[in-house]
Amino acid sequence: MKTPRSFRSRTAIATACCLVAAFTTARATDPTSAIAVLHPTAGNKTTGTIRFEPAADGKIHVTGTVEGLTPNAEQAIHVHEFGDCSAPDATSAGGHYNPEGHQHGLPVQEMRHAGDLGNLKSDANGVAHLDLTVDHITINGSQNPIIGRGVIVHSKLDDGGQPTGNAGGRVACGVIGWANPGK
Ligand code: CU
Ligand code: ZN
Repeated sequence: MKTPRSFRSRTAIATACCLVAAFTTARATDPTSAIAVLHPTAGNKTTGTIRFEPAADGKIHVTGTVEGLTPNAEQAIHVHEFGDCSAPDATSAGGHYNPEGHQHGLPVQEMRHAGDLGNLKSDANGVAHLDLTVDHITINGSQNPIIGRGVIVHSKLDDGGQPTGNAGGRVACGVIGWANPGK
């Protein structure tokens, strides 16, 4: 028995739609990771690049290199509310990114601000390599999306104290944007 023509054409249209959908939702050039390039605030010299990549179990892998830090020290790094580094001291980036209204904490603590990334540990040359996997944030998902927000490096150690870890002034600021997948 022959398949009715109208059924066949509808099937063909449905298949074509699915193929189009597959290509439009997962092109090789679509970004999946985010990047923040850190620039020094007024009177400082800290620079760096921080990357945020999706990891297993919905977590986010945070990596990067920061230079121009105090040698052999620990300095706080957080995601702040706004991707606005326009003020010379970067206060325009707002407070710690905290959509869920938790108290401040360190990454080892379950309850903390979504933006609490803890500390960078610098070597004798003032260079730190960050390699941290965190939960509670997404790049562009429904839970605490960080795209378009700010990364701040502070002058001092984040000691986990309230309200913001006693981390001192802001020495570098960067905006979290989509990373170029071809780079
Ligand atoms: Cu901060
Ligand atoms: Zn915090």
